[in-house]
Amino acid sequence: MPARKPLNIGLVGYGFMSRAHSNAFLQAPRFFETEYQPALKAVCARNAERVKSFAQNWGYESVETDWRALVNRADIDLIDIASPNDTHAEIGIAAAQAGKMVLCEKPLGRNATESASMVSAVESERVANMVWYNYRRVPAVMLLKLLLDEGRFGRIFHYRAKFLQDWTISQELPQGGEGLWRLDADVAGSGVTGDLLAHCIDTALWLNGPLREVTAMTETFIKERKHNLTGRVEPVRIDDASAALGRFHNSALATFEATRYARGHKALYTLEINGGHASAMWDLHDLHRIQFFDHRDEGRLRGWRSIHVTDGDHPYMKRWWVPGLQIGYEHTFIHQFADFLTALSEGKEAAPTFRNALATDHVTDAILKSAKTGRWEPVSSVP
Ligand SMILES: NC(=O)c1ccc[n+]([C@@H]2O[C@H](COP(=O)([O-])OP(=O)(O)OC[C@H]3O[C@@H](n4cnc5c(N)ncnc54)[C@H](O)[C@@H]3O)[C@@H](O)[C@H]2O)c1
Repeated sequence: MPARKPLNIGLVGYGFMSRAHSNAFLQAPRFFETEYQPALKAVCARNAERVKSFAQNWGYESVETDWRALVNRADIDLIDIASPNDTHAEIGIAAAQAGKMVLCEKPLGRNATESASMVSAVESERVANMVWYNYRRVPAVMLLKLLLDEGRFGRIFHYRAKFLQDWTISQELPQGGEGLWRLDADVAGSGVTGDLLAHCIDTALWLNGPLREVTAMTETFIKERKHNLTGRVEPVRIDDASAALGRFHNSALATFEATRYARGHKALYTLEINGGHASAMWDLHDLHRIQFFDHRDEGRLRGWRSIHVTDGDHPYMKRWWVPGLQIGYEHTFIHQFADFLTALSEGKEAAPTFRNALATDHVTDAILKSAKTGRWEPVSSVP
């Protein structure tokens, strides 16, 4: 094998996503043929002791405690942003202006205005960019995309998706600070709409094309919580639950729901598509299966098929073990990073780009707006 070109990575954050991304940087070149060899050059977070221990565990060569120092380092090619949503725009724009490739966690910005400024930065600096909407890279979800692109479903009538959790039901849970920044609107931008529904929308736009308009309701069930940073009881300004109806440009109807108040559900992302010929369902808790129904099957045998997406001719699966053996959540990040490296070698863009992710933010903005106005709201299109 010819020597691989080094790709020097600087990571921001040492939390949940930083672990998922670091694992992907290490595993992608082992399981996929890539021209590039990621080098874990530096990781940055504000707590020096903790960032050092993260660096040791994952094999980063050095640490920084100020992201500005990281972004300005001459020995870094790519900045990966895995810190909370309020940091994405500032770090992403500075990284692009320093000529670095930029990978960013979702949602891209706290709203579409912030995201649009990030799109302008990466496009005017012509740097490679990608947003970690990782569910596109579940082999079963990728299989759905291939089946849709082959036209097997016929005209699409319905697209419905839900993302259900239950971790914020307690009144005693504070808002803000480490681990709870998702409840602080200043940091998160919005509640479940930008956090969970954004995943449903990214997949929907990718599978079924753009949305034309939406109408929505949101609710904040617990109105006040102690703020971890101020110590005071303060109003909660995020949406705890969000439900939206929409119309796609292809005239299909959309139904979306996200909540952190569905007792018993921890991370239940489900989606279903109904077309004239066929329907399909997918469920994150059983992520290797799609349920598929084809009306054109012989009548006596017609029924729902449960397809275990683990065979060598299924997306990504020939890179892993033998047919029938499963992979998991972390592999979606490995696939996405491997796709990024392949695109880089081929001089192509790796989806979803910042521009693709801006389209999702336009939808979430329209949903939040409709929840306030009580009206149908148009979704701004992204050329
Ligand atoms: N793709 C997905 O499925 C998925 C899942 C979870 C989170 N996310 C996204 O990933 C991002 C991070 O979420 P998480 O769950 O990993 O959060 P987390 O709270 O586990 O980790 C956040 C990290 O950012 C660091 N940080 C905060 N401010 C910083 C600053 N100014 N400079 C440097 N480091 C800073 C913190 O120290 C921490 O290490 C968010 O944007 C979130 O929406 C995406």
